[in-house]
Amino acid sequence: MDTVKKIDVLRSRLKEASRNGKSVGLVPTMGFLHEGHLSLIKRAREENDLLVVSLFVNPTQFGPGEDLESYPRDLEKDADSCSAEGADILFAPDAGEMYFEDYGTYVEVSGGLTKGLCGKSRPTHFRGVTSVVSKLFNIVEPDRAYFGQKDAQQVAVIKRMVRDLNFDVEIVVCPIVREADGLAKSSRNIYLSEVERKAALVLNRSLKAASERISSGERNGDEIKAMVENMIKQEPLSAIDYVEVVDAENMKPLEILKGSVLLALAVRFGKARLIDNIRLEVE
Ligand code: PAJ
Repeated sequence: MDTVKKIDVLRSRLKEASRNGKSVGLVPTMGFLHEGHLSLIKRAREENDLLVVSLFVNPTQFGPGEDLESYPRDLEKDADSCSAEGADILFAPDAGEMYFEDYGTYVEVSGGLTKGLCGKSRPTHFRGVTSVVSKLFNIVEPDRAYFGQKDAQQVAVIKRMVRDLNFDVEIVVCPIVREADGLAKSSRNIYLSEVERKAALVLNRSLKAASERISSGERNGDEIKAMVENMIKQEPLSAIDYVEVVDAENMKPLEILKGSVLLALAVRFGKARLIDNIRLEVE
């Protein structure tokens, strides 16, 4: 596996591959890879001839006062993991390679899809995500790109962008990978102290309890939301950012649960802002 830092070097490798009729898979990441990322890489490895993993802590998706500087980084270990999973290229550009000093072009999905849930407390986040993912799609021109359901709103926003801007790429969505005790794997779990980590188990527990309640017939969105909020509030170390019950495709709040339902939440424990969700098909 080669670690490539320059766009022109990557492009010439990719041109050669496409001349040889190879299919290209892309797994975009911000690094500090865990089993969640590796599940995307494994799937992409199976489905493509040439596999590119990108590793870039994208400054434009962090807001003022967020954790851009402290975001965990370990390029060497990540390169070993990618290599062990059979990736062909690890694309790890510096910020200056991706953004000129006078950079000023953004791709933004407007409307409700980016305004609610994470968009409410992170108003410029999705604009940064869609801009960098557009750049990666233009640089790599993948046949398939792999994203995790862990970031359910990100998936919906990227799918909308791909549809609206006619990107010729298939978006493949992979299930949430969890720790044995149910905590969704995240690079940001490293911010949790031992007691906070224990407290954070309430997230998965409350999502499971809500899903059981829906299975036994509850269809009122506000009831489900209140139940999850109440369970989380029992944990004194938690601070809820949001708990929402929305349509999984357009992220609109649902009063009555029907169709593809997403129960999504963001909760702070100390320095860590954790997100989690569960998607259900409701008759
Ligand atoms: P990052 O948080 O590094 O995540 C990279 C990919 O891994 C995302 O598609 C995310 O949904 C997926 N992922 C993370 N944790 C997961 C888990 N527990 N189970 C399954 N998949 C998981 O998301 C980003 O980076 C960035 O916004 C990015 C798309 C790279 C743009 O900068």
